[in-house]
Amino acid sequence: MGQVLRRYWYPAFLLADLPVPDCPPIGVQVLGENFVAFRDTSGEIGFIDELCCHRGASLTYGRVEEGGIRCIYHGWKCDIHGNLLETPNGGGTRAVRDHVKQGSYPVRAAGGLGWVYIGPPGTEPEFPHFPWMDTPEEEITAGEVLYDCNWLQVQEGSLDSSHLGIMHVDNGVVMQPGPPMVGSLSLDGVPWSDKVRPPGALPGMPTTDNDPVVEVEQTPFGFQYAALRWMPDSDDKYVRISACVFPYVVCIGSSTGAVIVVPRDDESCSMINVGGRGRVPRRLGTVREPTADGLRQFRFPSDGRRYSIPPQDRRAMAGRTMFAGWRDGNRPQDASVQGVNGKVRIYHRRTEHLVQADAAVLMIRQLLFDSVRRLEAGQAPHGLEPFDFRTLQAAHKVIGANDRWQDLVADNHGRVPGGNRESGSESPQAAAQGVEA
Ligand code: FES
Ligand SMILES: [Fe+2]
Repeated sequence: MGQVLRRYWYPAFLLADLPVPDCPPIGVQVLGENFVAFRDTSGEIGFIDELCCHRGASLTYGRVEEGGIRCIYHGWKCDIHGNLLETPNGGGTRAVRDHVKQGSYPVRAAGGLGWVYIGPPGTEPEFPHFPWMDTPEEEITAGEVLYDCNWLQVQEGSLDSSHLGIMHVDNGVVMQPGPPMVGSLSLDGVPWSDKVRPPGALPGMPTTDNDPVVEVEQTPFGFQYAALRWMPDSDDKYVRISACVFPYVVCIGSSTGAVIVVPRDDESCSMINVGGRGRVPRRLGTVREPTADGLRQFRFPSDGRRYSIPPQDRRAMAGRTMFAGWRDGNRPQDASVQGVNGKVRIYHRRTEHLVQADAAVLMIRQLLFDSVRRLEAGQAPHGLEPFDFRTLQAAHKVIGANDRWQDLVADNHGRVPGGNRESGSESPQAAAQGVEA
């Protein structure tokens, strides 16, 4: 699986963490390996192995100066490509500089993020130019939160529409007057209405239907799925369409940015939210954009961005004024059930019982395992077909009973898994129904 996960570009750090030429380097962990990112004197970014190629000192302590980074142990210095520029204790000959290189990797600065490729040399796919990358740089907002749990637990949360109107009901995610309902439970302590939107609330859903039909289609970039909910008192449907740029990036229904989950190691990951100004919940993570009007900086109190779950409000839960025990945005709600800082840093899925609403969760698992098989057979893993990412779309809208949701995202080029629309028996939704509890 690690070989598959190395075959994609993904963001390893925020550009705001390397704000100016020759600023201090940063240590970056990706897929259990350790690297150093630095911005050289000309402003170019390098992404190199953390340990010095002489005798393994950490270059996170290095000096960034005059076109390279210099190890503080014996002064070896390399440029962003890993070429050795100086080896002060190397005996005065060029021999070592001609035959030794510091490990370096392709890196791109785009859309507020530093993207890297750590797969085998020469195999990097075309760099994905996402829609938000055309936003003026000073308007891009990027935030990162470090979670202590396996990345897939977090990623599956972005592919799970049916929890929106249930766990996130505390955030007023359903924009209807009157008390919200979760099954038979009515929560009548707070007047939900489309005129009262709690801070951090998602764009509201106009229906209380919490049993969406989830339809999944494969695309050149991975897959997309639609969650279809009935509107009250009509045959219209409210549809939320999300696009999964397999395996790390998800563009969710009402957002024009993306949620990106990056594995740091087996038991930790970064959730990165990125988008244009005002489109990303700023409270999500650290935002360090040095703009003229001074975008605020958010820091978690301990260990920078590492997230810890605040206390759950059991009194409000018992009093039926809260469902999940947090009404302060989605973050604590999502993190609590994804295993962040909990006892399930790696969730073993043997005992679960999927339902039809979990079809998109099943899809990413299928693509991951199928990608392993494909790579072992000498084929490319999923999600690497040619695609113009500038056309990538997510969407949410009320549509008529006979309208096709696919028409809202026509440029995504979806197709039913298995290759044609008659192959429903192989589809994730069909497979999920087969294992329904
Ligand atoms: S260990 Fe880096 S120069 Fe010697
Ligand atoms: Fe959520």
